[in-house]
Formats: sequence, C-alpha cells, structure tokens
Amino acid sequence: MPGHSQFSVDTAAREATALAELGIPAVLLFGIPAHKDAFGSENFDTEGIVPQAIRAIKQAVPELLVISDLCFCEYTDHGHCGVLNSAQRDDFVAALGDGYLLNDPTLDLLARSAVVHAEAGADIIAPSGMIDGMVAAIRGALDGAGLAHTAIMSYAAKYASGFYGPFRDAAESPPSFGDRSQYQMDPANAREALREVALDVAEGADMLMVKPALAYLDIIHQVKQRFDLPLAAYQVSGEYSMVKAAAAQGWIDERRVALESLLSIRRAGADMIITYWAKDVVKWMR
Ligand code: PBG
Ligand code: ZN
Repeated sequence: MPGHSQFSVDTAAREATALAELGIPAVLLFGIPAHKDAFGSENFDTEGIVPQAIRAIKQAVPELLVISDLCFCEYTDHGHCGVLNSAQRDDFVAALGDGYLLNDPTLDLLARSAVVHAEAGADIIAPSGMIDGMVAAIRGALDGAGLAHTAIMSYAAKYASGFYGPFRDAAESPPSFGDRSQYQMDPANAREALREVALDVAEGADMLMVKPALAYLDIIHQVKQRFDLPLAAYQVSGEYSMVKAAAAQGWIDERRVALESLLSIRRAGADMIITYWAKDVVKWMR
C-alpha cells in the first residue's frame, strides 16, 4: 500500500506523538500478531501487539484518542473475522459446510478482546467484523469489567467491498478461502444498512460508521438523516491507493482529488473521517 508501512511498538508511539502535534485527534490501531491460530488468540492476550501499542501510545501522548479496531482477520490463520465451524466438532455445525463463520462463539472472543484492549487504555473500541450482536456483547463485557466509560464506535454498515484490497495486503489479512460476504453487506443493498445501524444503536453503540466512503455516499447521507449519533466514514485503502496510483502516472492531481473526495464525504454527512491522508490533509489545509 503506497505511503504506508507497519510499525513496531516504539515507532508507533513516536508516530502517534507526531500526529498529535499536527492536531490529529485520534488514531485507529490494527495489529499484526507474531502468531496466528484458528481462534486468533493473540487478540485477547494482554501482551499482544495491540495492548502493548496502546499502552506505549497512551504513555507517550495521553491526550491522543486511541481507537482499537476489533476484529479477528489479522489474528486467525484462515484470515476470517471470527471462529469457523471447522474449529468445532459438532454434527449440526459440520452440516453447515466448510468455512462457515460461527456467530456466537465469535461474540465471546470479541468481548474478551475488547476488555483486554480497553484495560490497556483504548478510549474507543471499534468492532469491524459485522458479527451480529457484537455491540451488545462488547458493551456487556466492558460494563461487567468496570469499563463503562470506554466508548464503542461500531462499523455499523460495512460492505463486502473490493476496495479493501491494499489494506489486506498491508495488514496480512486476506481470507485464505472464500470472501467475507457471509458477514459483510451486499453492495446492492441500501436498506439493510439502515437495519444494521438501527440494531447497533439499540445495542448501545456510541458512534456509527459507514464503510467504504466514496462509493457509499448515499448510505452516509441516509444514516445521517435518520440517526443522531456521531457518524464516521472510513475512506478505505482502495479509495486512497487508486488516487495515489493515478497521481503517480501524472493523470490526476493528488491533493485536489483527495480534498475533493474528503469534502464529498463531509457533504454527505460524515462528522468524522478516517483517512490515510490525515497527515497530508493537515499540511495541505495549512
Ligand atoms: C478488518 C478490517 C478491514 C478493514 C478495516 N478493518 C479489512 C476487511 O474487512 O477485509 C479495511 C480497511 C481499508 O481497506 O482501508 N475487518
Ligand atoms: Zn475482520
């Protein structure tokens, strides 16, 4: 992915300090574990890479908000966003066929991981797997652990998108077989996004997200019209990398197109934008 690389814990803390100095209010962390297994165990290990990074960043720059992207695809050896039925020896589950994601066992592990990340100091937990019931499970676990103040930013309407390609390469998280359409949404379906958002609101989400952004401006607009929680839009890796590639060819003006895209996302109704251009935007706007 152009212009981006993986950080170690110490370099992540240094980068976070530089971001805060630029006036960027928050970072969103993704972990790449040393070991992957069927259950993504490093995600709920207190010495896992993300809890270590959260502690280092909060120590270096306490005022910077740390958002932890909570999902299993970077942590599982199969690259799916939770527990698969191949991990359970049960006739009913086996009858679902190979490589079927088990919703409720995944909820238990998400809840455990959320508590580990929040105890490490994450201000916001951002579950990104589109697992049904994830917000309620995480809210219950956080409250039960005395972490009622930790907020949840739900990837409420996340589509099964081709625009995630460069991220999966950078984060070493492509599914080893199949795709994510069992849990992420069908790009053809707009009304399902509103149902998914309504469920997350009812389950206790503090903030909502629509993802990707540019190809889903209609969804951002509709969610903004109907729900009054703060709304984030995630301008994903493919949106960013396409512009970088075209600009490298001399075909388009990166700065102009990036700012125009961000403006359109804002115009559609996003209150917050997650973007790989964050550092550039600060410089451009100055
Ligand atoms: C993990 C996750 C993904 C992204 C954010 N969280 C990948 C995916 O769903 O396959 C994509 C981010 C990007 O493309 O910039 N579930
Ligand atoms: Zn995932």
